Amino acid sequence: MPVLTVSREGEFAIVTLDNPPVNAVSEEVRKGLVETTAQLDAEDSVEAVVLICAGRTFIAGADVREFGKPPVEPHLPDVVMTLEQACKPWVAAIHGSALGGGFEIAMGCRFRIADEKAKVGLPEVNLGIIPGASGTVRTPRLAGVDAAVELATGGKPLAAPRALEKGLIDKVVAGDLGREAVAFARDALKQPLPTPVSQRTLVPKDDAFWQAERVKAAKAGHSAPLAALEAIRFATTHSFDEAMAHERATFLDLRGSEEAAALRSVFFAERSATRPDFLKGIEPRKLSRIGVVGGGTMGSGIASACLTAGYDLVLIEQNDEALARGRANIEKTFDGAVKRGKMSEDGKARLMEESLSAATDYAALSDCDLVIEAVFEDIAVKRDVFAKLDSHCRADAILATNTSYLDPREIASAVSDASRFLGLHFFSPANIMKLLEIVPVSETAGDVLAAAFSLAAKLGKIPVRAGICEGFIGNRILKRYRAEAEALVRDGVAIADIDAAMRGFGFKMGPFEAQDLGGLDIAFLQREGDRKAGKDIPDTLGDILVRAGRKGQKASGGWYDYVAGDRTPHVSETVADLLGSSVTGSRTMGADEIASHLVGTMAAEGKAIVEEGIAESGTDIDLVEIHGYGFPRWKGGPMFWSERQSAS
Ligand code: 3HC
Ligand code: NAI
Repeated sequence: MPVLTVSREGEFAIVTLDNPPVNAVSEEVRKGLVETTAQLDAEDSVEAVVLICAGRTFIAGADVREFGKPPVEPHLPDVVMTLEQACKPWVAAIHGSALGGGFEIAMGCRFRIADEKAKVGLPEVNLGIIPGASGTVRTPRLAGVDAAVELATGGKPLAAPRALEKGLIDKVVAGDLGREAVAFARDALKQPLPTPVSQRTLVPKDDAFWQAERVKAAKAGHSAPLAALEAIRFATTHSFDEAMAHERATFLDLRGSEEAAALRSVFFAERSATRPDFLKGIEPRKLSRIGVVGGGTMGSGIASACLTAGYDLVLIEQNDEALARGRANIEKTFDGAVKRGKMSEDGKARLMEESLSAATDYAALSDCDLVIEAVFEDIAVKRDVFAKLDSHCRADAILATNTSYLDPREIASAVSDASRFLGLHFFSPANIMKLLEIVPVSETAGDVLAAAFSLAAKLGKIPVRAGICEGFIGNRILKRYRAEAEALVRDGVAIADIDAAMRGFGFKMGPFEAQDLGGLDIAFLQREGDRKAGKDIPDTLGDILVRAGRKGQKASGGWYDYVAGDRTPHVSETVADLLGSSVTGSRTMGADEIASHLVGTMAAEGKAIVEEGIAESGTDIDLVEIHGYGFPRWKGGPMFWSERQSAS
């Protein structure tokens, strides 16, 4: 089957591109477009051409799988120019998404119309590159510099109505897109044709504009957004051809960068996360009604996420007061969504009044397909809850625990049929954090595991299967990371230097700052529990601080001092005194050395986790770190990063 087919509708040619799954621009598509343009130019009977795509979307961009290979002719910028210079005007008929090279092709067309649900954008920065086929050069000429900067440096697609307002497209249509495109072309031909985008003039901006935009673009932490901005700035002060040459050189340069390789690896890993090989051919158990037991921090977050995704939800708490608190927690989350324009007041009211029900009686769970437990981290309390679930829930209902550290097997033994049991480890705040560790026990049925993965997909989460060990994947690595950071402090490296090094690497916070935010007491209490159970666990440096009342920001001091109402950490004399006798070395380390050492430690723990079969692959470790622990995605995750370091 050719990727491009041509049909006729009177004097119009309809070119249909069909390159599943997302009509990415491969070498074959580029060649096909050049050949088809020449063929249709030569046909006297053709007045105009409609470019439309089969399947779920318009062209989603250049084929990312070709990025690791040398570029092959015809290059995309030339294809876009060929379309623009065609004798017959082309109309891009967009449904789904026109992204990156897809939108660049649409800009080469004389007109762009879009289905009302379509999106257009230049998401290249998310792959560590900039647009490479005129995105930074044609967009400011088509829709102005502001729109170009928003699209190319932010990387977020715009919905068709917004794109229309900004002049990125000519018309939004409802109904049959092909028919609408032909009707549009027929009308358009009655007027003089608009100037091709490359020949339009643009209005430059002053230095203050670029300065302010540089500050915004730098916040992303990696090079591509700044490079995209610079390419647009260059395009405002140079000719079209000069700007194209500059854009192409930057594009090719970034395409071969470590950041781009890392972001590509994450891109593909994220896309395969919800469909792992071990679930091939397994039909997930159906979920439509979900119960959550416990409406505290995690339960209310999980409930909000499930409600937003369209599930009916039953919230269970131990008494009316706790139930009211749980409902209020959920409502607060929705209020935030309304404030940010992500939810309407009506939408919120519908979820709170129609989709959510709340009870203290477990009988309310009798018709749930899945119940997620998020009560106190106490084995006796959890086993008691699961015994109740066992007697109140339908026999085929899935029962899940959100435990962080308890052994799911001990919880599962409270259930008569463990084939319906598994761990669903959400991260806080559960309505926002993308990671979901899915922890089956040996008895968990295939369709139960598959249901957990499909739940993750519906919630927009990144699921990773984890085996059973203390802390599963993420918290186990976190523990090792913190221990190693403390080891550096004992060796004489300054706490603030370690945090600064990890920020320099790309984390939002270093290990000590992050612990001050979350509270040092959580890990302390866990260790105290183990000590009470007879384990011989020496005091960590964090334990010394907690024993001195320094639990973090909430206690106005932890690893750092804080001034009331201000989250800025200040190096603490008190901490220096408290830890003085534990610091035995006088090691000096540069920022890069500290970061390499600590990321290397994460990778070493990740390797052990994979070798023990707790994680399926290094890629899963990377997804856990990126989506649960703030690892900078443009470094690809600890496993990707360490592998590249040892290869270089
Ligand atoms: N190249 C190659 N494969 C791609 C691709 C691309 N640009 N975009 C998506 N795919 C693949 C995915 O890997 C996945 O493959 P799989 O089924 O084998 O796992 C499949 O298409 C479906 O992808 P999704 O699961 O993401 O499908 P959705 O329907 O949820 O989303 C989409 C569709 C919105 C188009 C989304 O895939 C997307 O955002 N894609 C990336 C778009 C992008 O970044 N474009 C810019 C590319 S760079 C470029 O164009 C440079 C140019 O300026 C020169
Ligand atoms: P929390 O203390 O905020 O909430 C627990 C809730 O459970 C309380 O509202 C309590 O009233 C309710 N509850 C207790 N016993 C109950 C019972 N028998 N029936 C019904 N409700 C009951 O605790 P949090 O932080 O939400 O933690 C819950 C679980 O999630 C724990 O297992 C914890 O380890 C895990 N977890 C916590 C994370 C966090 O960052 N807080 C992250 C990931 C998992």
